[in-house]
Amino acid sequence: MTETFLVIGGNGRVGREVVDQLLDAGHGVRAIVRSEAKVPSLKRDGIELVIGDIGDASILAPAMKGLRKAYVATSDDDTSVAKFEVFLETARDAELEHIVRLSAMSADAEADGDLSRRHGQRELALEESGMDWTHLQPTWFMQMMLEYAPGGHMDLPGGDGRIPWIDTRDIAAVAVAALTTEDHNCKTYQLTGPAGLSYGDLAAQMSKATGRDFVYRDVPADEYRAMMVDAGEDPGYIDLVLQIYERISDGQLSTWHDGVQKALGREAIDFATFCSDYADDLIKQL
Ligand SMILES: NC(=O)c1ccc[n+]([C@@H]2O[C@H](COP(=O)([O-])OP(=O)(O)OC[C@H]3O[C@@H](n4cnc5c(N)ncnc54)[C@H](OP(=O)(O)O)[C@@H]3O)[C@@H](O)[C@H]2O)c1
Repeated sequence: MTETFLVIGGNGRVGREVVDQLLDAGHGVRAIVRSEAKVPSLKRDGIELVIGDIGDASILAPAMKGLRKAYVATSDDDTSVAKFEVFLETARDAELEHIVRLSAMSADAEADGDLSRRHGQRELALEESGMDWTHLQPTWFMQMMLEYAPGGHMDLPGGDGRIPWIDTRDIAAVAVAALTTEDHNCKTYQLTGPAGLSYGDLAAQMSKATGRDFVYRDVPADEYRAMMVDAGEDPGYIDLVLQIYERISDGQLSTWHDGVQKALGREAIDFATFCSDYADDLIKQL
C-alpha cells in the first residue's frame, strides 16, 4: 500500500535520498523546505513542496494534515532544540503517529559538546512526546567527500583518527524502512559503514577509483580555525566543527556498529563502492 509522508530536510544529504527512495517505491512526499528546492529529486512527480521552517507552527499544521508519519532532519544550531519542540507539539496536535529523526551517533542529552547535547535533547523530547519514534544515529557521511576535497586537497584537523564512514543511501534506506513498516517503532539504530578509515585512507581510495590525485594534509586546529574565519563562518559553527574534529583525532568516533545489518538484513555499502558510484562527482571538485 502506498502512502504520503512528511519530509523535513529533503534538501539535505540524507533527505534527498529519502525522497528518492520513497518516490521510487511509489509513495508520495510532502516536503517542507526553507528555500526553493535545489535538489533534482524535489522536482519529481509525486512530491508536494511547502516552503517553511520547522519552527513555524503556522506552516507545519496544514502541511501535516492527513499524514501519519514524518522524516525529520535539520541543522544543529542553538535554535534547533526549541524549534524541534514546536514541531513535536504541532505534530501531536495533528495526530501524527511516528517520527523518524536523523540524529547522530554521539547523541547524549548530558554531553558538554553542543552537537551531541542538542541531538540528545531532541531524542529525549521525541521519546517523551507520546508518538512512536525511530532514532537514526549515523556516523559521518561518505557523501561529505563530494565537498571535502576542493582541488584534490583535504586540509583538515583529523589526525590519524578513523571513522567507519556511512553511505547516506544506507541511512535513507533505514529511514524508509521505518516509515513504510511498523518494524522499527521505538528503536535506535547506530549506523556505520563496514570499516574504520582515516582521511589518508579515504584520499588513497578516492585516488584509486578516479585515477586522479586526492591528498590529505593534517592541519593543526588553530590553523583550521583561521581558515574557517577567513571563509566567513559563524563563530558558534566553528566551535562546533572543531569540537567534532577533536573527537575524531582522539579516535572517539572509530567504533563500528551493526545498525544497517539489524535494520535492513544486509551489509552496509563500503567506501570502494561509494567511490566507484560517485567517481564523476568526486572529480568535479578538482
Ligand atoms: N554530515 C554528516 O556527516 C553527519 C553525520 C552524522 C549526523 N549528522 C546529522 O545530520 C543532520 C543533517 O546534517 P547534514 O550534514 O545532512 O546537513 P544538510 O545536508 O545541510 O541537511 C540539513 C537539512 O535540514 C534542513 N534544515 C535545517 N534547518 C532547518 C529548519 N530550521 N527548518 C527546516 N529545515 C531545516 C536543511 O534545509 P535547507 O536546504 O533549507 O538548508 C537541509 O535540508 C544534522 O543534525 C547532523 O548533526 C550529519
